[in-house]
Amino acid sequence: MREVTLLHGDGIGPEVISAAREVLEAAGAQLQWRDFAVGQEALDAGGEILPAAALESIERTGVCLKGPITTPVGEGFPSVNVALRKRLDLYANVRPVYNLPHVRSRFSGVDLVVVRENTEGLYSGIEHEVVPGVVESLKIATEKGCRRIARFAFDYARSHGRRRVHSVHKANIMKLTDGLFLRMAREAAKDYPEIEYREVIVDNACMQLVMKPEQFDVLVLENLYGDILSDLCAGLVGGLGMVAGANLGERAAIFEAVHGSAPDIAGKGIANPTAVMMAGVMLLRHIGASGPADRLQAALLGVYESGQHLTRDVGGSASTAEFTQAVLARLR
Ligand code: NAI
Repeated sequence: MREVTLLHGDGIGPEVISAAREVLEAAGAQLQWRDFAVGQEALDAGGEILPAAALESIERTGVCLKGPITTPVGEGFPSVNVALRKRLDLYANVRPVYNLPHVRSRFSGVDLVVVRENTEGLYSGIEHEVVPGVVESLKIATEKGCRRIARFAFDYARSHGRRRVHSVHKANIMKLTDGLFLRMAREAAKDYPEIEYREVIVDNACMQLVMKPEQFDVLVLENLYGDILSDLCAGLVGGLGMVAGANLGERAAIFEAVHGSAPDIAGKGIANPTAVMMAGVMLLRHIGASGPADRLQAALLGVYESGQHLTRDVGGSASTAEFTQAVLARLR
């Protein structure tokens, strides 16, 4: 049995996480879950937003499956997601984006991977009031942080048979911070001659992605651009219910859906659990459980190929439970 930390999260989190747990077990994964409440759920129970026991469990088990966690906008407690990534130094956020059959989307042939730097940039959370009416937010870039994410992107490309890496930046304006990011990417590129290296300014990248997404393979971006562009990329293949992500560091790895807690549909039983199930597949591969990972991936693909039991966000009418049953039926 392999121990895995489980964070249910807020909003649709508990609905999609329990669906994922069911299918992971049915796929034959020998997992021992260690459950913890964090964020709003933990506060409501009178605890801290990020209990030390949850962090310790992630470090001890090395892997975590996580539901989305609500972050209050413009006030209230700071993001638990950002805190987890920084405290555990989960510097690489990897989000594979590709089409699945029968999913309504504007494009076919999308098959790209967003590699987002997860610990620096404007998400450093260093904000203050300079004088009343003037506030400042600092964008941090370090040589170490830029170098390791660039090398990660090229290593990922090499080990996954990818051919091209685009570095996405705004170094024409942010000459120091994005300039450093670009310099480190150029340096890394020299060690991977078989991988084509290109650069694209972030605003142009957005336009290119919604015109010709098939030109992209691996994209490497600093934190904020990566956050925004990965939602954009999810929109290319049917929306946020479809895309999973891994937050990877030397000490631990957290797997989750790209989407948030979706308060508009929470509790209605209609959330698409595909993204978090795909995050489960990534987790299984990470721990070397390739048999269960292949089974679960095939079962998910099978449901999409059949075109039946799809959830509303991708043009079907199934509930979360009906979709989950359809996946389970293919695993039994
Ligand atoms: P969101 O991703 O929760 O929702 C955006 C839209 O996509 C909504 O219309 C929602 O119904 C839809 N959607 C998302 N996931 C879906 C699914 N599985 N099935 C069907 N439809 C789905 O983004 P929003 O509304 O900006 O954020 C809500 C909260 O989530 C915020 O507090 C935010 O901070 C938090 N959040 C947490 C993340 C995490 O824990 N990693 C990531 C993104 C946001």
